[in-house]
Amino acid sequence: MLNRPRRNRSTAAIRTMVEENRLSVKDLLFPLFVMDGTATKTEIKSMPGIYRYTTDLLLKEIEECLNLGITSYALFPQVAEERKDSLATESHRQGSLYLEAIHAVTSRFPEISMLTDVAMDPYSSDGHDGIVKNGEILNDETLEVLAKMAVAQAQAGSKLIGPSDMMDGRVGYLRESLDDAGFKNVGIMAYSAKYASAFYGPFRDALESAPKFGDKKTYQMNPANSREALREAELDELEGADFLMVKPALAYLDIISLLRDNTNLPIAAYNVSGEYAMVKAAAANGWIDGEKAMLESLLSMKRAGAQVILTYFAKEFAQLKIK
Ligand code: PBG
Repeated sequence: MLNRPRRNRSTAAIRTMVEENRLSVKDLLFPLFVMDGTATKTEIKSMPGIYRYTTDLLLKEIEECLNLGITSYALFPQVAEERKDSLATESHRQGSLYLEAIHAVTSRFPEISMLTDVAMDPYSSDGHDGIVKNGEILNDETLEVLAKMAVAQAQAGSKLIGPSDMMDGRVGYLRESLDDAGFKNVGIMAYSAKYASAFYGPFRDALESAPKFGDKKTYQMNPANSREALREAELDELEGADFLMVKPALAYLDIISLLRDNTNLPIAAYNVSGEYAMVKAAAANGWIDGEKAMLESLLSMKRAGAQVILTYFAKEFAQLKIK
């Protein structure tokens, strides 16, 4: 036998030497939730260890995470039900919780990168990512709301916006709107291949943003499709996206890899709320080793080709001693 692959696995030192991928806190982007009020944080039941913070505590949390080496974040708002309406007007109201929080974070921590969310669902009384009329999601009318939202976020200090809505043509529309408003250096991380997934449940608990009727299948992608992800990615690239995202991550590693082979843009993978909840729930029952399962899943996303991993595990990873 000339070839014995086990030789390269025989000691920890050799295994480290031949390791093809290595996780670093620099690969990770930490999604955070902000809510109204002061001096309060509430844990999200279906995401143990993850909290909604009032803006004052959000700043403290970012400071703590920054000290652990996390330099990239995303922010999502929990909007009070009475502020929601069918046109998501709260999403671009000056003085809103979210715009104020963006301003507070970006002025306090100019060195971090913070992805701000552009989609109607946190503010929509219908719980959808677009304007609803007679049960249908209107595409082009929604683009106007998204553009107002993106420009308002840029004015508040955002340097990177993340359209998570899946309307057609939104990357180009937002690019043009940002440029026209003088924000040509504000980037776009496009949720390019965003699937209609069962793994978003805990996130919708966190924001209380679940659709009030129906599902999101007329805009989010069918899990059966991969060539369609290429088509979405090509369009977003042509429309001026700076990053392409695949979401969820774990059940879509093939899509991450496919996009990696077909674009030179950086690829982001969103290790979503349900993927986090699965690991946490099984670990809490003693059925799997939660820390090992976390490391193995994050590594798989990197191996598949993700350059950025959005994950609720970011802080936990950053706190690990092994690094
Ligand atoms: C909606 C949005 C969702 C997530 C981020 N933005 C859920 C949805 O499409 O309903 C999910 C993120 C997660 O599950 O962690 N614009």
